[in-house]
Amino acid sequence: MAHRILFLFFSLLFISTSVCIEEGFISVVISEKGLDFVKDILIDQAISSIVLSQLPQIEKSVQVPLVGKARVILSEITIKDIQVSSSSVETGDTSIVVVVSGATANLSLNWRYTVSSWLVPIGISDSGTATVKVENMQVWLTVNLRNQGGTLKLILLDYGCDVGDLSIKMNGGAAWLYQVLVDAFKGNIASAVEDSISDKIIKGIATLDDFLHSLPKTISLDETAALNVSFVDNPVLSNYSIQLEINGLFTEKNDVLVPQHYRLGSDISISSGDLPKMIKISIHENVFKSASEVYFAADTLQWILDELPDQALLNTAEWKLIIPQLYKQYPNDDMNLNFSASSPPIIQVSNQDIAAKFSVDIIIDVLEAGEVIPVACISVDISASCDAEIVRNSLTGRLKLLKFSTYLKWSKIGKLHMNVIQSLTSTVLKTVLIPYMNSQLKKGIPLPILNGFALANARILYTPPWISVCSDVSFLGDYYLKHLPAHVS
Ligand SMILES: *[C@@H]1O[C@H](CO)[C@@H](O)[C@H](O)[C@H]1NC(C)=O
Ligand SMILES: *[C@@H]1O[C@H](CO)[C@@H](O)[C@H](O)[C@H]1NC(C)=O
Ligand SMILES: *[C@@H]1O[C@H](CO)[C@@H](O)[C@H](O)[C@H]1NC(C)=O
Ligand SMILES: *[C@@H]1O[C@H](CO)[C@@H](O)[C@H](O)[C@H]1NC(C)=O
Repeated sequence: MAHRILFLFFSLLFISTSVCIEEGFISVVISEKGLDFVKDILIDQAISSIVLSQLPQIEKSVQVPLVGKARVILSEITIKDIQVSSSSVETGDTSIVVVVSGATANLSLNWRYTVSSWLVPIGISDSGTATVKVENMQVWLTVNLRNQGGTLKLILLDYGCDVGDLSIKMNGGAAWLYQVLVDAFKGNIASAVEDSISDKIIKGIATLDDFLHSLPKTISLDETAALNVSFVDNPVLSNYSIQLEINGLFTEKNDVLVPQHYRLGSDISISSGDLPKMIKISIHENVFKSASEVYFAADTLQWILDELPDQALLNTAEWKLIIPQLYKQYPNDDMNLNFSASSPPIIQVSNQDIAAKFSVDIIIDVLEAGEVIPVACISVDISASCDAEIVRNSLTGRLKLLKFSTYLKWSKIGKLHMNVIQSLTSTVLKTVLIPYMNSQLKKGIPLPILNGFALANARILYTPPWISVCSDVSFLGDYYLKHLPAHVS
């Protein structure tokens, strides 16, 4: 009995987990090289947000031998410049650690003091400037990335800043004041720098988190479809890489379509080991299948051809000899061709390209007295291959016709000869349909790349059922990041 209950319990557990597991059909792996690249950009951004920032003024009363009680104020303490000599980023199972070591910084400040004692009843005062050099500064922070309702959440787990050495150079001023600055203020200046940088880390991470949160969950592609770019599961952090999973399926824009259920054919085996490029974006063939189903369901896989370079071909007169019946019934009428997919195209990733199979009905319409009269329908099964290409940040492709078979589905203009159908179809496919489809494919599927970044030196790998893009990324400038706070608020 106990066994049976246990068994039942485990089967329930198994069922419930297997139902809950969501799957990502686009996977993004950021390699060690990619992480380094991101880290360097973020450090540059951090430095530019820190430089020229002003620290709070520091004031203190100090007892100076022979001089008396001095009230010293340091103001306009400004970080002028920061240089980072080394930095690193490491990913563990649960966190990402960024360490900046051996950084140096220059500060400038204004000093002034007043001394009052019974010896000097009128009081003396003076003011001037000083520069401070901070060396051997360490800054570190530890963050984690989690999935929160389809967007990424950046969590700051630990952070800190430690000023190693600090030296002060005064311009003018008395020797005793220099000693006071070194003895009494060195610690204050160091902690002001540490606090200011820690504060910038908190604010910077919050800004980045807001930015991640503001990323869209769907990308609108056209009137028909949107791409679901919600994150699925938590990012997988492993030695020197981060793997993100994205739903990646096409959905119908008006969202009335029932959610699609796809299963991953095989486990994601996207190794990141010694990836020579910064990122690897892998797209499962189910993404293409979802596109094909969404566009088919929305009746968008059809097209009317009513213009040709040789317009005479779209008149029954031109066919007088080949299809006499057509001319006889509809003399000198204009025609058009109505192409429509008769089932969702079948798309499969193979070892060297993407294979596509689709069936198209070509209806010959005659236009007579403002009326469209379908007169015959030729059905064509087409096998094509598609070479994937990267155009800007999208995956596009070029179709090549491999073979086709054709038959006459119905006709109101008598029986057409098989070789007439064959040669007609062949010409139409090569000169009209495939070029048209290629012009449609040019839009491509947008790859999940942040605005402001571009793929560079991308390479395409076919590992069925995945197609992967291995690429470096270039930063187009800090326009987007600079505008983050405004964008977020
Ligand atoms: C600080 O100032 C010195 C002297 O003006 C300069 O050589 C150095 O490059 C500056 N920057 C840093 C970060 O030390
Ligand atoms: C990750 O790195 C640690 C330390 O270098 C090593 O012991 C471990 O085997 C690595 N794990 C993987 C999955 O490479
Ligand atoms: C988008 O993908 C997420 C994660 O898989 C899923 O929860 C959500 O329902 C999807 N949205 C649509 C409109 O299909
Ligand atoms: C084209 O053919 C399809 C399929 O037979 C049909 O549903 C559609 O209405 C036709 N389009 C036009 C404009 O005639």
